[in-house]
Amino acid sequence: MRYQGLIERYRDRLPVDDTTPVVSLCEGDTPLIELHNLTGELAAETGGDPVRIFVKYEGLNPTGSFKDRGMTMAVSKAAEKGAKAIVCASTGNTSAAAAAYAARAGMTAFVLIPEGKIPMGKLAQAIAHGAVVLQIRGNFDDGMRLVKEVAGEAPVEIVNSINPYRLQGQKTGAFEIIEALGDAPDYHCIPVGNAGNISGYWIGYSEMAGCNTASCTLCNGECPYLEQPKTRKRPVMVGYQAAGAAPFMRGAPVEAPETLATAIRIGNPQSWDLARAAIEESGGWFDEVTDDELLATQSLLATREGVFCEPASAVSLCGAVRDIRAGRIPGGSTITCTLTGHGLKDTATAIAGRETVETVDADLASVKAAIVGRL
Ligand code: F0G
Repeated sequence: MRYQGLIERYRDRLPVDDTTPVVSLCEGDTPLIELHNLTGELAAETGGDPVRIFVKYEGLNPTGSFKDRGMTMAVSKAAEKGAKAIVCASTGNTSAAAAAYAARAGMTAFVLIPEGKIPMGKLAQAIAHGAVVLQIRGNFDDGMRLVKEVAGEAPVEIVNSINPYRLQGQKTGAFEIIEALGDAPDYHCIPVGNAGNISGYWIGYSEMAGCNTASCTLCNGECPYLEQPKTRKRPVMVGYQAAGAAPFMRGAPVEAPETLATAIRIGNPQSWDLARAAIEESGGWFDEVTDDELLATQSLLATREGVFCEPASAVSLCGAVRDIRAGRIPGGSTITCTLTGHGLKDTATAIAGRETVETVDADLASVKAAIVGRL
């Protein structure tokens, strides 16, 4: 049957019923791509057992980021309640997703974005889908505070990840990984900003591990996955932040977060407790990477593996590679990295400082010289 989005796919595992109007753009079902080139080099370098690294390419969702998984749920549930308008604060991707799903649902989306700090691709999406874009003189954390305040004063549904339906949608990323690999990975590496996604993945992995066990309170013995390989395994969760916006590393909110990875330029993550619990229960850790490191990884992925993700997304692989080199992630491990958004979201950062476009005369001699000179 035609794929119809993650609510239809995982209906039995999501808080929806026959009366829920499903607002979907056929999100989810994204590829899990194995990185052959980079892992080959890593094995040669470390000399140990090779690792397997898979990237969950969430940039291939309808609006180009993982936010669509949560947004189909949040907007469907808002529609079920009869909401006419939704609101969110965003570093760009949530606003793009909110705008698109609101358009589909016939609702108005109000999006609060930090002035001058979201890339043009994401801004274009919010505008193109007809959202009301409010650029605030402040950062994401200010926007988040304002959204919570205004939702008490006006009939608007918050669709940030403090809305629990968002995490319910986002947990399906873990379901898809387990289905693709036949089991949970050993390590799951993920960028952390507002900390919703790491929390959603942990819910997803935990639900699958509880599957078919006495502790599973979700399916009441009606588990839709009984025919598939079962697992008690949950991965070690590893959350990476940008060094200038790393409140989990500081152990407290960061006042003025700064990073070129604008998607995760966040100092006061809303899902703090859930994210901490995921790390502690799984025996994982948080770490941070610098802007230079994350940009280098973004470029490496694009040039060596053909996968173009945005800067914030590269943080997961960037940290993973460093921890593999350091032996913290041991040889022989299977590792999944969520690549949260598409590289086309922020082309300016991707090409900054790279003078790789050459202008030549429109004649055969010039073009041939340019090619032959590089072979
Ligand atoms: N990667 C990208 C590309 C993001 O857009 C975000 C968050 C994250 C990682 C971090 O995920 O917040 O669940 O820990 N973007 C939000 C937004 C804040 O407004 O688009 P998180």
